[in-house]
Amino acid sequence: MKIFIIAAVLAASSIALALHAQTAEHPVPRLVENDGRYALFVDGAPFLMLSAQSNNSSDWPATLPKVWPAIEYLHANTLETPIYWEQFEPKPGQFDYSQVDMVLAQARDHHVHLVLLWFGTWKNGSQHYMPEWMKLDPQRYLHVTNKTGELVDSPSPFATASLEADKRAFTAFMQHLKNADPERTVLMVQVENETGTWGTLRDYSPAAEMLFEGPVPAEVLKAMGQTPATPGANWQEVFGPEAEVNFHAWAVARYVGQVAAAGKAVYPLPLYVNAALRDPLKPGAPGTYESGGPTDNVLSIWKAEAPAIDILAPDIYMSNTQAYLKVIDLYHRPDNALFIPETSGAVHEARFLFSALGLQAIGYSPFGLDYSRIHSVQPGQPDAQNAFLEPTAQNYLLIGPMMRDVARLNFEGKLQATAEVEGEPAQTLHFGNWDAVVSYGSGGRGPAKGNPEPIGRALVAQLKDNQFLVTGYDCRVDFRPAGTEQQRKSGNIVVGTGQTPSALIDGKWQHRQFLRVEEGIYENGVFKFMRILNGDQTDWGLNFASEPEVLRVSVATY
Ligand code: DGJ
Repeated sequence: MKIFIIAAVLAASSIALALHAQTAEHPVPRLVENDGRYALFVDGAPFLMLSAQSNNSSDWPATLPKVWPAIEYLHANTLETPIYWEQFEPKPGQFDYSQVDMVLAQARDHHVHLVLLWFGTWKNGSQHYMPEWMKLDPQRYLHVTNKTGELVDSPSPFATASLEADKRAFTAFMQHLKNADPERTVLMVQVENETGTWGTLRDYSPAAEMLFEGPVPAEVLKAMGQTPATPGANWQEVFGPEAEVNFHAWAVARYVGQVAAAGKAVYPLPLYVNAALRDPLKPGAPGTYESGGPTDNVLSIWKAEAPAIDILAPDIYMSNTQAYLKVIDLYHRPDNALFIPETSGAVHEARFLFSALGLQAIGYSPFGLDYSRIHSVQPGQPDAQNAFLEPTAQNYLLIGPMMRDVARLNFEGKLQATAEVEGEPAQTLHFGNWDAVVSYGSGGRGPAKGNPEPIGRALVAQLKDNQFLVTGYDCRVDFRPAGTEQQRKSGNIVVGTGQTPSALIDGKWQHRQFLRVEEGIYENGVFKFMRILNGDQTDWGLNFASEPEVLRVSVATY
């Protein structure tokens, strides 16, 4: 008997130790900020999510087999996939964890991380993923009421019963994740999906009207930098034409913030919300975009009202270069890490991964990249069915093996990346004593003309004062002496126009020479030297075509 007890105690303590070791090895992923730069720490070090989002209805036993081959083809390290409230809580308070467990197990089998999307109260502004028992009881689980008193296809942010139900379900989901995922397969969770309302600016129910007529809460005034002339001023008085969208954003953020806080209290994974955007260049009047979600004009309201949400993230479906760049600029803030949870994986947009990396993005995830919607595969044309994956696959093939270094160098502020802009054949990235000059469509010695289509992209990181990691596609990179900080301040620098990048600095020419250009490959996250490039391969700069190539470059002046 005694022996049994000792054995049982030993077994129990070794299980406890093993569990402890496991969780100690895999700390909970966390978002870390340093000097306004962010990194997602996974297993204790910065990690870059090179992800893809599945189609909305793909997270089922019947369709997941059509997801994994696409993820593999992409070389993605993360899959974003939904968890459906309607599946998770078929009866009030009864939770079905089978879908969560299934996707966790399959992700592990495929050595891929997950970002799980909680399709809860809101999905694209509607309540379509609420369980049937909620849909059938609209008196209790309220819709938004529009100006003319009709119920619209959007959940009311003032529906207390819906809020309590969502909090309870989301908490059960997070608690289960905590128990079921000591490996930390799941890196982040998205709370709701594209929250807000289409077709009406806000809820006009009597309860909402009362709040709209009441004073704007102090935290909203502070977040929006407003000091009303009259204390206790209401929304209309404070915000004029923006009153209704600001009010709805406050109400939705307050609701989602409470759901997020409840889940985070049981399992503190990084949480984010995604936004259906408004036009970043010419924002239309309220009503021309989804009202209430974290659009760029109300980010501060969301930050103040939903502090349990770590990131406000833009879903970017924009092919216009300036619009795309403006969006990432708007969502890259000292109080907000840049993360792109949805975007188009189309050929002309794929280069924007590099623009995002230039703003220290912690992750990027084109939408709808699985085979669930491919119905007509042409026999004998294997590539045709992969055309929609190709641009993202090309990116991930290059960046995937080096993603730990990319994330770390970005977090340390040593990395810059950029994408081609129409009509701008050359761009300059500044690194202390050196400028990296990126050009597009440079043939031989001739001037850069830009690529026929703007598909070029480049990434440069400073490893030492005179050593750089360089990669990209469809571009040329070279280095030009930039002088010391003091010399730059004095403005006494003239850029040379000869073939070799040079600059006249304080009356003395400094020309770039390559000391050593090493071509290598990343193996197990480490750059491995393959050969030295010289002669035709470097005489006109470092040229990157459409094959993945990574260089470690040492430069000097003469
Ligand atoms: C944005 C949403 O967030 C996604 O779930 C999906 O509906 C896409 N739009 C469009 O297909």
